[in-house]
Amino acid sequence: MTGTEPSAHRIDTSRPHPARVYDWLIGGKDNYPVDEQLGLQMLALEPHARHSALNNRWFMHRATRWLVQEAGIRQFLDIGAGIPTEPNLHQIAQTAAPDARIVYVDNDPIVLAHAAALLHGAPEGVTEYVQADVRDTGKILEQARAVLDFDRPVALSLVALLHFVADEDGAYDLVGSLVEALPAGSCLVLSMITGDYDPENMERAVRSYAAGGVRLVARSHAEVTRFFTGLELVEPGVVPLPEWHPELAAGERLKGEAPVPLYAGVGFKTP
Ligand SMILES: C[S@@+](CC[C@H](N)C(=O)[O-])C[C@H]1O[C@@H](n2cnc3c(N)ncnc32)[C@H](O)[C@@H]1O
Repeated sequence: MTGTEPSAHRIDTSRPHPARVYDWLIGGKDNYPVDEQLGLQMLALEPHARHSALNNRWFMHRATRWLVQEAGIRQFLDIGAGIPTEPNLHQIAQTAAPDARIVYVDNDPIVLAHAAALLHGAPEGVTEYVQADVRDTGKILEQARAVLDFDRPVALSLVALLHFVADEDGAYDLVGSLVEALPAGSCLVLSMITGDYDPENMERAVRSYAAGGVRLVARSHAEVTRFFTGLELVEPGVVPLPEWHPELAAGERLKGEAPVPLYAGVGFKTP
């Protein structure tokens, strides 16, 4: 594990944290009462929030399977990795390709505290964990280069991450810098929340997170698509998350009673 400053170990249990609220929503145990409280508020506002969070995780599963099996990708840079929940990205990737190399990145000390679970991979492959903020692209790229071969394609996975980074905090620029550093044949994997289906409810969710001290940014279809500028989108494009290659689901019920308010897409860097 790299990039661990002593202060990074401090876990603040006085206010909710995105990684822990998400962990609570998907049924994990690594969260605190403040996180549960915000999760319960989310469920009161949006009874389908848990299904949406699970759907997001399942998108990561499907995208990883597709990338390894259909696109031959063997290297992943997964930023905003989250608290480990099996199967984690490396387990999906290494099931199909044991030699897959994965660098996980997150800025939350609770993810660091549980990172050991991300480091037990197939002996033929490699997994590494870097404690860093996605806005620190220089540090991330430097440490990723020590593990991944930047002459070969890398999947940059930013799954359910960018709605925690505002435009004025450089969301588009940081994605541009990361993609720029990767060779042709690499790809960008995104999922992100949207208010396109129910703007008022999303506004209430944004306010609940803000009350807990967490900034949440919902983006429209056009704003999500803009992250893929210069890349070639894989069919079916930027779509509601359950519609991204549902045939790769492992038996999950992707469609619920309400729309899942997240978009997803994968785009490739061409020569
Ligand atoms: C909703 S979780 C998604 C986890 C995982 N990618 C998934 O989709 O299952 C979002 C993760 O992004 C992390 N995160 C939020 N802001 C971040 C930042 N500025 N830099 C790095 N990670 C961040 C949180 O700590 C959390 O673990």
